[in-house]
Amino acid sequence: MTLSMVPLIEHKKRGGRHSEDELTALCRALVAGSIPDFQIAAWLMAVCWRGMDAEETLAFTRAMVATGDTLEWSRLGRAVADKHSTGGVGDKTSLVLVPLIAAAGIPLAKMSGRSLGHTGGTIDKLESISGFHAELSPQETQSQVERIGCAMVAQSGALVPADKLLYALRDVTGTVDSLPLIAASIMSKKLAAGAHVIVLDVKYGSGAFMQSRAEALSLARLMVSIGEGAGRRTRAVVSEMEEPLGRAVGNALEVREAIDTLHGAGPDDLRELTLALGTEILVLAGRAARGGPDSPAPHHGRDEERAELRARLVHLLDTGAAAAAFERMIEAQGGDPGVVAHPERLPSAELVHPLRSPGRGSAWVAAVDARKVGETALDLGAGRRSKGETLHLGTGIVLHKKTGDETAPGDTIATIHARTEAEAMTAAERLLQAFTFRDEPVPAPHRDWQTIAASGEGSPVA
Ligand code: URA
Repeated sequence: MTLSMVPLIEHKKRGGRHSEDELTALCRALVAGSIPDFQIAAWLMAVCWRGMDAEETLAFTRAMVATGDTLEWSRLGRAVADKHSTGGVGDKTSLVLVPLIAAAGIPLAKMSGRSLGHTGGTIDKLESISGFHAELSPQETQSQVERIGCAMVAQSGALVPADKLLYALRDVTGTVDSLPLIAASIMSKKLAAGAHVIVLDVKYGSGAFMQSRAEALSLARLMVSIGEGAGRRTRAVVSEMEEPLGRAVGNALEVREAIDTLHGAGPDDLRELTLALGTEILVLAGRAARGGPDSPAPHHGRDEERAELRARLVHLLDTGAAAAAFERMIEAQGGDPGVVAHPERLPSAELVHPLRSPGRGSAWVAAVDARKVGETALDLGAGRRSKGETLHLGTGIVLHKKTGDETAPGDTIATIHARTEAEAMTAAERLLQAFTFRDEPVPAPHRDWQTIAASGEGSPVA
């Protein structure tokens, strides 16, 4: 089909829907370089205002996938899993989840990004492990997963080139915040990576990409419908991120916390979210193997099935099996596996500065603003403001007090890992602004996580 962009833009501007053929032609022409940027930008803005329905978004996602390579896992003869997080401050879930799921016998290939802005990137975190190599080709990724059950690699440019081009334009034309464009962008990369089972960690709140729970639920439902529409067993867990996940924010500090969690310890919120996501992967992988999302649990009810699968994952953490899987993966990717037993080998900052609780009496932490913590970590060199900026892998923040905790005057509420005294002082001032205190007890945050399944119905998981 030959493509005339002006009628396509006009049609979307008036709220029309596009056919699969039109969307395929648009993505092909985009990658061939035959549409000027200004026309693509105009079309993106029309989509922002007028949207796309679920069917159209699935067709667009498929058209994007068709512009590049795809990974194929049939040689393994088993369901392969994948996970995606919409990202947030202190989100090191993948570092725990990937080896944990591999230890449970489900192969997993995870492609991740680098840090940009106030949220970190999984690849930067892994690169704080000496020698770790994340730039694997799709073939190298496949052969590593076949050999040791998992890989964590940088997103390959050969997969979904249309997304790279579109995202670059969206970024400079105010067209990032469109649900269909976000869902198609994320899911095209998941579909191209070829997994049979996809679990999505969709966050909302001050530290997250989506600000409200309603937006996060809509995005989760749309992504689940795309995954299922493309024949993948897909589920989402929607969780709040008003404060950072876990206590550590910053690359090596987060790897250290992930290692603690892989050894059966670690902060409760990180461990519980990892177990919730991991349980959904095992449920879906079992059902994919038995033939469909509605296949009944084999011997018992769904709640019992979940409890059993969760207990299996807890056992893998507590016995060191998940930590051993992390060691194998680090070794396979050229890194120093000794960091798992000796996390003190990870890079550290030049100095550690305590941030003390202000005030004259006892107080309770009412909030720790994730965005402000993320921005302070960025100032310390743990993140990058523009592409290609060098990171300081040992810098960052460790929170000692989180929402609901009581503090006495002079208690250490956080430690700042900085390169210089001056940077530590500036960070201390900024970080204090992230804390809100009250002079009466504050309950710990309620975990109202919700799973979104194929039917679109939400069910509480915690
Ligand atoms: N992450 C992506 O990969 N794409 C988007 O559009 C937004 C977040």
